[in-house]
Amino acid sequence: MTPVFAKAYGPAEVHFQLEDCDARVEPRKVLMCTPEFYTIVDVKNVHMQNQKGNVNKEKANIQWDAIRNTYLAFKNQKLIDEVYVIDGVDSLEDMVFVANQSFPWVMWNGEKIALMSRMRFENRQNEIPYIEDFYKDHGYKIVELQSKYHFEGMGDMVAHPGKRLLYGGYGFRSEKQVYDEISRTLDVPIITLELINENHYHLDTCFLPLNHTEVLIAPDAFTPESIAIIRRMFEGVYEIPDTEAIEGFACNAHIIYGANRATSGAIIQKNNPVALNIIQQSANIVAEVETSEYIKSGGSVFCLKMMVY
Ligand code: ARG
Repeated sequence: MTPVFAKAYGPAEVHFQLEDCDARVEPRKVLMCTPEFYTIVDVKNVHMQNQKGNVNKEKANIQWDAIRNTYLAFKNQKLIDEVYVIDGVDSLEDMVFVANQSFPWVMWNGEKIALMSRMRFENRQNEIPYIEDFYKDHGYKIVELQSKYHFEGMGDMVAHPGKRLLYGGYGFRSEKQVYDEISRTLDVPIITLELINENHYHLDTCFLPLNHTEVLIAPDAFTPESIAIIRRMFEGVYEIPDTEAIEGFACNAHIIYGANRATSGAIIQKNNPVALNIIQQSANIVAEVETSEYIKSGGSVFCLKMMVY
């Protein structure tokens, strides 16, 4: 086994294999944030262009409820253990996208850490204290970044299923340099992936591991070097066409990683037949939902939840 050091690796610097990385237990609890203050007031990503004031609030509430109900059904089916909901806050119109403000992690000694983001946009930074409150109530140690670099939580940093290995996206929101500090803080290797297509401004819009050997990607989102390292770390790499990856936010589905297909589930935006078909091969219970009101803001299912320990 090659020793794998806790540092940030560019695609060309990865000297280890997936088998060299330690095993990790997946989180089994879901956190959501209520949508009553969700709206679009500015343009933080290309999907938000011409969408100011264009959210149908009633539809947004119905769509969010349907996702929460799906998670509750998953809880009954024992795919997940809990569904936590925190209240949205007036004037924090993007707080509903609860994947972005933090990154939860369990250290080797069992300590639960909530690494807090440094959001690129000032008004989103104001969401952080409310998310911290949730973690404080649930036995986490809050950790702030020491460096000044931007980092947008699970929007840009995605774990390899079942492994102590992270992928850190950068280019639009998070900054490459932040991953050095994060790898040391969480004591985990991070493979950095440069994002080059503004439609995929967060890693979670273009990179969706299905299990520890397979991943869905939007190929146009990445440099050739990044594609090459993704192909080295995953045996099966499925390229999703733009119609589904950009318009349908197919790679922003949420996979609930069980021990095998029977105990795995997924929630995906409707009308993504290519991605749906692939996901159904690795997850037994797959729910399709409508997230059109959130896609207007650049997010779908994955962005609307946080998996916590
Ligand atoms: N309007 C939000 C923003 O631009 C959307 C965030 C979507 N979240 C995600 N994890 N991709 O910040």
